[in-house]
Amino acid sequence: MRVFVTGGAGFIGSHTLVQLLRDNAQVTVFDNYTNSSPEALKRVRRLGQSDLTAVEGDICDTGALKTALEEARPDAVIHFAGLKAVGESAEKPLAYYQNNITGSLALLEAMDSVGCRRIVFSSSATVYDPHEQPPFTEEHRLGAINPYGRTKQFVEDIIRDWAAANTETSAAILRYFNPVGAHASGDIGEDPVGIPNNLVPYISRVAGGSLAQLQVFGGDYDTRDGTGERDYIHVEDLASAHLAALKHAMKTTGSETFNIGTGQGTTVLEMLKAFEKAAGRSIPYRITDRRPGDVAKSVADVSKATRVLGWQAQYTVDDMCSSAWNWQSRNPNGYDNAE
Ligand code: NAD
Ligand code: UFG
Repeated sequence: MRVFVTGGAGFIGSHTLVQLLRDNAQVTVFDNYTNSSPEALKRVRRLGQSDLTAVEGDICDTGALKTALEEARPDAVIHFAGLKAVGESAEKPLAYYQNNITGSLALLEAMDSVGCRRIVFSSSATVYDPHEQPPFTEEHRLGAINPYGRTKQFVEDIIRDWAAANTETSAAILRYFNPVGAHASGDIGEDPVGIPNNLVPYISRVAGGSLAQLQVFGGDYDTRDGTGERDYIHVEDLASAHLAALKHAMKTTGSETFNIGTGQGTTVLEMLKAFEKAAGRSIPYRITDRRPGDVAKSVADVSKATRVLGWQAQYTVDDMCSSAWNWQSRNPNGYDNAE
């Protein structure tokens, strides 16, 4: 199968690429490296024991995108490319709408022009209305509360409309919960630019000594220990969900939306303890004010993915922490200074 992967050099994309290559897919990656490094693709080729075609380009550049798709002639597209920082999206909403929405429109148009009608799209749990009660099923009310989340909600709708307009089209929309962890080799992982916003990359840096202390955002939520509870999913499980979704999309038409998580919640303090165990060291922290926009609890109902895709997460929170720590300790500067 020929697969065209936008944003393939990023965190989730790189892990998915390894599994695609191992599954004998012919892969073209289209990425502008705005939040990633070509070094990740070098390592993906090694781990996947196969080559791939890498095209440097922006999904908003319709000409470059069409040319790349014409050359690749893919059976399907996995669309990871996007900007993803919630805080930044509130500061630069137009950049987010431009990149994530205009870029997705350009991609669908370019797919139409080469007759490619199958897509797997990276959506997010952030589309759910935070006032709804978890666990979230795919039927729960949507209501993103920041520009980033709204770009995901809009693109979901655009893809559903695109799929509805042509009977040969198939779209799998995956709503990821909280992806963490790294490949077991420690060769690829999450490499955020600057100070991480997300919990596990932040804890990793504290454990590695480049940041002094974790700030736990809020200790008075209505959860087991008062700290925020999330459904963390190992990036390797998330990668295998893409392969399952791709196979499903190849044999069906229409659009389907799937929650991709474990169905289990872990609090900030539970994650901290699991990471301390994985790293074999204590991690300093202090409880501070709540972070604006955070919810107490976000956990998936994953029964649809299990029932329809035959997919289920395999890895535990301990696996997530030990693989994240393995990546961090082998690559303290991420992909920078790689030989
Ligand atoms: P990432 O930033 O590591 O990867 C995104 C990739 O897209 C990067 O390689 C980046 O360079 C590329 N990219 C961005 N804009 C582009 C453009 N205009 N043209 C070409 N390439 C472009 O992020 P990730 O964590 O791997 O996330 C992948 C997708 O999953 C994103 O769409 C993100 O919004 C979504 N998602 C991520 C999370 C998460 O917590 N990591 C949760 C839910 C959804
Ligand atoms: N947290 C801290 N300290 C930190 C960072 C986070 O206490 O330094 C807490 C948060 O308050 C929250 C939990 O850790 O309770 C998880 O926070 P993250 O920032 O790691 O993840 P979020 O659930 O806020 O959001 C993430 C992505 C979103 C995505 C969402 C669902 O950032 O883009 O998961 O997929 F939409």
